[in-house]
Amino acid sequence: MDEFIALERVEKVFEVRRRTGFLRRERREVRAVDSLSFTVARGEMVGYIGPNGAGKSTTIKMLTGILTPSGGRLRVAGIDPARERARLAHRIGVVFGQRTTLWWDLPLIDSYRLAHRMYRIPDARYRENLDRMVELLELGDLLDVPVRQLSLGQRMRGDIAAALLHDPDVLYLDEPTIGLDVVSKAKVRGFLREVNAERGTTVLLTTHDLQDIEQLCSRVMVIDHGRLVYDGRLAGLHEAGESERTLVVDLERELPPVEVPAARVVRVEGPRQWLAFPAGQSAAPVVAYLAERYPLVDLSVREPDIEAVIARMYAEKAVS
Ligand SMILES: Nc1ncnc2c1ncn2[C@@H]1O[C@H](COP(=O)(O)OP(=O)(O)OP(=O)(O)O)[C@@H](O)[C@H]1O
Ligand SMILES: [Mg+2]
Repeated sequence: MDEFIALERVEKVFEVRRRTGFLRRERREVRAVDSLSFTVARGEMVGYIGPNGAGKSTTIKMLTGILTPSGGRLRVAGIDPARERARLAHRIGVVFGQRTTLWWDLPLIDSYRLAHRMYRIPDARYRENLDRMVELLELGDLLDVPVRQLSLGQRMRGDIAAALLHDPDVLYLDEPTIGLDVVSKAKVRGFLREVNAERGTTVLLTTHDLQDIEQLCSRVMVIDHGRLVYDGRLAGLHEAGESERTLVVDLERELPPVEVPAARVVRVEGPRQWLAFPAGQSAAPVVAYLAERYPLVDLSVREPDIEAVIARMYAEKAVS
């Protein structure tokens, strides 16, 4: 099946009641997801990003069947999640970084034993998966430790293992690296890459850490106010965000700002000058032009900062 996850004009409206005075209440609608359509193919690893309150977690909850859409059509592996939540549970794994699914007071291994029974995982398969997970996620020394005694990074690795023991076809990750130090983040990312490559698991990854996306996802979807505002390659965001690349040139000596078509000097420091030009454009003509007319010693191109691009994108959409 090519469209493994498919959303067609999906909506989710929450009704919130607010006290506005003595005995007076106001009803207000929050449109958390608004006419959202996208598809994800089997084996894809897609980043799902957007500012706080954009509707990311709400989308994931609908994809697991925890929440029922207010409108539209939604399918995961051909299953309507809200109608057949139990059947879907065998096909998906979920990690909510902000909330553990493990048994807090019990040793880690007990949560896995429970999953073994709950999902009716064949014994040999369970053992094989557990061994692999323990090895890759370095859980060996942690299995007998009560979950509440684990550090955040250890707990997150434990949660990820729990989500994968039953060999799901899809893995939803809602901020799986939140609060982790750089070493733990690297471990989690390495593991996810491996799972995706080895098992062909389809992964939908929500995060505020753009390095997660840069290192893992060839495709990224940006959601804002419940609507999809970008779907494509991460690199393409630069163009969508109208960002600029910077050419840093070292001249033989201090000179007035150089003059080049299609680029402008944004900074001068002694013999070094910084030129900005559109990110979608090649640096070659700018370099050729400069080399012909100025005494160049050295140069380098700096890519735009993806964080800045996305921040600008969020800001633009917020006003429109
Ligand atoms: N159960 C609920 N009842 C009422 N409103 C809700 C509920 N859950 C979410 N919302 C609202 O829906 C909107 C989207 O929330 P959601 O949690 O999906 O955002 P998010 O993109 O995951 O944000 P964050 O990056 O902060 O996790 C927000 O305005 C939120 O307040
Ligand atoms: Mg969220």
